[in-house]
Amino acid sequence: MTATSTTMAIAAPAEIQVELGARSYPIAIGARLLDDGARFARVIRGRHVLIVSNEMVAPLYLERLRAALARGNASLQIEQLILPDGEVHKTLDSTARVFAALAEMKASRDATILALGGGVIGDLAGFAAACWMRGIDFVQLPTTLLAMVDSSVGGKTGVDLAAGKNLVGAFHQPRAVIVDTDTLATLPPRELAAGFAEIVKYGALGDATFFAWLEQHTDALRVRAAQALAQAIAHCCTQKAGIVARDETEQGERALLNLGHTFGHAIETATGYGTLLHGEGVAIGMVLAARLSAQLGLASPASAHSCSALTCPSRCHMASIRII
Ligand SMILES: NC(=O)c1ccc[n+]([C@@H]2O[C@H](COP(=O)([O-])OP(=O)(O)OC[C@H]3O[C@@H](n4cnc5c(N)ncnc54)[C@H](O)[C@@H]3O)[C@@H](O)[C@H]2O)c1
Repeated sequence: MTATSTTMAIAAPAEIQVELGARSYPIAIGARLLDDGARFARVIRGRHVLIVSNEMVAPLYLERLRAALARGNASLQIEQLILPDGEVHKTLDSTARVFAALAEMKASRDATILALGGGVIGDLAGFAAACWMRGIDFVQLPTTLLAMVDSSVGGKTGVDLAAGKNLVGAFHQPRAVIVDTDTLATLPPRELAAGFAEIVKYGALGDATFFAWLEQHTDALRVRAAQALAQAIAHCCTQKAGIVARDETEQGERALLNLGHTFGHAIETATGYGTLLHGEGVAIGMVLAARLSAQLGLASPASAHSCSALTCPSRCHMASIRII
């Protein structure tokens, strides 16, 4: 991707609105938002709250979240469900466990599910929210970079079957997305790099200014500089919010967000799921798509080279499996 300008400041609004009429919702981005009890009190409509998280994330952030919720509204009935970690648990069985927890607490129509974790927890908890009493509120509290810039926004929810990934699901928009950027401090480096690929995707989708900004800020993002991360997340969320508002159910423009995914999914399948992280597959897929575009004369060789250079950190794992 060739840049036209490298000096533009990337807007970093603390709050972005996804405009979907009656189903519009805010994306809040900032430090220590998990402690913001007043924000939760504004978003949660009923008394019943179920936090869904996993065995990796819960020990890190669950108690802080519970304390903030109680500070915001002392009359909430707060329960929690801690699932095992990993994509292999993004299943109907885990969804049934969410239903059982909701039934146990006698959750009513105005109950809220809080999804505390990465894309796996967000997709699964969102799907359970879509189904319980034909749809209750849920709030995305993404804790991976990938979930912050992609999966938590847009209302795609679902789980995997043995026959394939994300085969069962629903479009169900969250009531809010609350991104506490401090949670990235504990994210393993490989997961951070995989999320970076999804950020590059937004630049490669024709946003040359953002692409150039990323080239300038790669080091800052890699060392988790708070300001750079917040700016990048806000920019991606703004882009995604616009695309979702124009094409909520992927009839056209939203398919652009699948850039690199055709190659990526094929490689994920060929290597066996679990060998590559989703973002790593996307990084490799974007490079292959850029190279193919260059070969077809649809993009310049320099663009393909830039895409390859920028996604390099996300592709570090591929050396060990000799894909590229
Ligand atoms: N709904 C959508 O639009 C959409 C888009 C892209 C991807 N996805 C889905 O997202 C999933 C991948 O999401 P992911 O990459 O976030 O994976 P993930 O949810 O498995 O999280 C990755 C790992 O990081 C751990 N983790 C999460 N936050 C942490 C933190 N702050 N500190 C330490 N460890 C932390 C998790 O426990 C897990 O081990 C896939 O299931 C994919 O299908 C959905």
